[in-house]
Amino acid sequence: MFFSSYVKARVALVGATGVVGRTALKLMMEHADLWEVSLFASKQCTLDLEGRLLNVHPLDQADFSCFDVCMFATEENVSKRWIESALHAGARVVDSSSWRRLDPSVPLVVPGVNQQILQKEHSLCAHSNCIVSPLACVLAPLNVLYGLKCIHIATYQSVSGAGKYGVEACLMETKKKLSGTPLETSYFPKNIGFNVIPQIGQLDHMGHSSEEEKIQKELHRILQVDCPIFSTAVRVPVLQGHASAVWVEFQRPWSKEEVQEAWCKAPHIEVAREYQTPLELQGRDVVSVGRVRQLTPFHLAVWVCSDNLLRGAASDMVDIAKIMVQQKN
Ligand SMILES: NC(=O)c1ccc[n+]([C@@H]2O[C@H](COP(=O)([O-])OP(=O)(O)OC[C@H]3O[C@@H](n4cnc5c(N)ncnc54)[C@H](OP(=O)(O)O)[C@@H]3O)[C@@H](O)[C@H]2O)c1
Repeated sequence: MFFSSYVKARVALVGATGVVGRTALKLMMEHADLWEVSLFASKQCTLDLEGRLLNVHPLDQADFSCFDVCMFATEENVSKRWIESALHAGARVVDSSSWRRLDPSVPLVVPGVNQQILQKEHSLCAHSNCIVSPLACVLAPLNVLYGLKCIHIATYQSVSGAGKYGVEACLMETKKKLSGTPLETSYFPKNIGFNVIPQIGQLDHMGHSSEEEKIQKELHRILQVDCPIFSTAVRVPVLQGHASAVWVEFQRPWSKEEVQEAWCKAPHIEVAREYQTPLELQGRDVVSVGRVRQLTPFHLAVWVCSDNLLRGAASDMVDIAKIMVQQKN
């Protein structure tokens, strides 16, 4: 209804050639009535999107004053280098990178969980990490019902979480391994083909990885809790789709029926009869929960799975851009 009497928004999609950018573009094309989209990447090129050839412009030639909203699906260093210019030119910005996710002046939004914090006066909005967003969708209703006391998480994260070069590296290493060609150094900390790696990002002096730190700090911020959150983030040789095994301790006793009912009502969540896997969820914009087990009256175990290029990436980014367009009109 609110879209009926407005002029199309002018939107820049920066990082259009990356795995998140391409996925966002596909989603945006489903709502072509909302916006006119211009594409940017590091250099001029043509993007083949399911047979449609689209022009991509070099970012250093962008005139940000032409846009209402700029969506940055770029690494932290690129976001840091360019977002200030876009804001200065008067555009509102959604950033996929971790650059300012923990800055208290920048809302960290998980659509379906806390989108109400994004106000018209916020010029910059961050969305959360691709493992955090689905976890927040699953944990938010549990926190309301019983209060979160302690959370343990083991993640199984696909190579597309590391961008297009992560996908290429996994495919190349797998082919080499199958053909008996010796493997040299990898894009990942160790070879990923036919392997699993318990390190995503840099390790700090305590041995925690940067991904594990993001899981803790982003979940604390989004859910507004300060309970202990322990995780081990693992890269697995899956192309698309992240999963997590999660163990939750509550402040009050819980019931399976009540939890299933709350999840059925919550945005994005799909309750599986048994469980779903990354392959089954590829291209599906849902967060699947399965293998829900009552360990004790205070402890729940659950398997969480989603397409990392949608929830926690392109879907969150496009949902936030839609809110910005709505707030403009
Ligand atoms: N992958 C995920 O599951 C996921 C989920 C949530 C958040 N994120 C975050 O989303 C961002 C994008 O991730 P991605 O996985 O899509 O990465 P990606 O596949 O490596 O894509 C990176 C994009 O950035 C562009 N780029 C690189 N350097 C540039 C420059 N100097 N100027 C302009 N554009 C430049 C690339 O363009 P060229 O093709 O021209 O190099 C490409 O379009 C990252 O911050 C990532 O942490 C990713």
